[in-house]
Amino acid sequence: MEQDKLRKEILEKVARFHESARQEKFVPGKTRVHYAGRVYDEEEIVALVDSSLDFWLTAGRYAERFEQEFAAVFGTKHCSLVNSGSSANLVALSALTSDFLGGKKLKPGDKVITCATGFPTTLNPIFQNGMLPVFVDAEVGTYNPSADSIAEAAEKGAQAIMIAHTLGNPFDAPAVSAIAKKHGMYLIEDCCDAVGSRIAGKPVGVFGELATVSFYPAHHITMGEGGAVMSSSPVHKKLAESFRDWGRDCWCPAGRSDTCGKRFKWKMGDLPYGYDHKYIYSNVGYNLKVTDMQAAVGCAQLKKLPAFVEKRKGNFAFYLGQMKDYEWAFVLPKKLPNAEPSPFGFPLTVKKDAGFSKNDIVAHLESKNIETRMLFGGNLVRQPAYRSRKFEKMGSLENSDTIMNGTFWIGVYPGLTDEMRGYVAECFHDFLKSRRS
Ligand SMILES: Cc1ncc(COP(=O)(O)O)c(C=O)c1O
Repeated sequence: MEQDKLRKEILEKVARFHESARQEKFVPGKTRVHYAGRVYDEEEIVALVDSSLDFWLTAGRYAERFEQEFAAVFGTKHCSLVNSGSSANLVALSALTSDFLGGKKLKPGDKVITCATGFPTTLNPIFQNGMLPVFVDAEVGTYNPSADSIAEAAEKGAQAIMIAHTLGNPFDAPAVSAIAKKHGMYLIEDCCDAVGSRIAGKPVGVFGELATVSFYPAHHITMGEGGAVMSSSPVHKKLAESFRDWGRDCWCPAGRSDTCGKRFKWKMGDLPYGYDHKYIYSNVGYNLKVTDMQAAVGCAQLKKLPAFVEKRKGNFAFYLGQMKDYEWAFVLPKKLPNAEPSPFGFPLTVKKDAGFSKNDIVAHLESKNIETRMLFGGNLVRQPAYRSRKFEKMGSLENSDTIMNGTFWIGVYPGLTDEMRGYVAECFHDFLKSRRS
């Protein structure tokens, strides 16, 4: 009782502490306009302190709650929390290498179709599992590979497809899923930048066997660091969690035992009958678990997700409207007709004959205190990390070079105010007016 009272008092004070924090006034040109950032209020801090008072530390009541609530929002049956989006990608692909899948398991040397433009840790698990990436080109405008390009790569033989919905813009997931089914391939959707995006009336992330999410502060909702592997089959969930949790066969949550009811009655591998199931390892795993403090922040953020998504959509639509007269200079963002992006950013590609370069406009915006970002690694095959690696590519990847040389993006995150985005638009107008004449 005393503890409950104290907890209540502490949490009330924490909420007041946050309320007393002064909001910085936006000064055009002086205040940095960020591309992304944490948007939170006292609820997140209260949840964080509440979980720290439990001092449970590892995944606990908040993690369990987040997994249930997020799966329902996302549209899959299961959510398995991990400590980053990169870990989620590693776990998702690794899960498909388990001996448990028999003849269907992925093996070293297997080919995985992926996009040449994107974030490195969509690609890295392919190398980390000893597999061979087959790079397909992205399209300028959508920044995703077309379904046709994936079908062409699939015709040459591959065992899996692992691609991201770039900047929240859905790739043709229904078509890609059909290609995967036709060729008996797995599909992993990297939804790290695409929470809330939909295509063909369905949320992204439900078209493949597994999907991944990131909760890094730049993303749609945050836990600081964090990620999730999303699945709808109990087998994929169990395998993902095994790879996350040291490779163990036991599926008891932290702090619990004998949920299988036969903890000392298993016979696996060459171990003696009855060896404690808690210490039976059926996969070569990692430890990529999340803490309950991270999950607590996530629970508070989740309530804000619908409003965040609407704000992102609104900011994106605003910039699209502002840029409509500048098609002489930029390739404006494009989407598939049946796609409803929950955008991560607003990308622009400077046309070759625009009379200025990407570096010129980026330098202008940065000089005005407006943050810009590249489309991650540009053409990944040109990154130093992969120069000595074995991979295959479909064609010359010329669009990926165009993206590397000409594409940048600005933020649409919910922390942008009308004043900020108006200032950003003005800075674009000034630059483009001076260039046209
Ligand atoms: C498409 C994509 N996949 C994976 C990641 C990795 O997520 P994390 O930073 O949480 O490891 C990112 C990061 O922004 C990303 O954009």
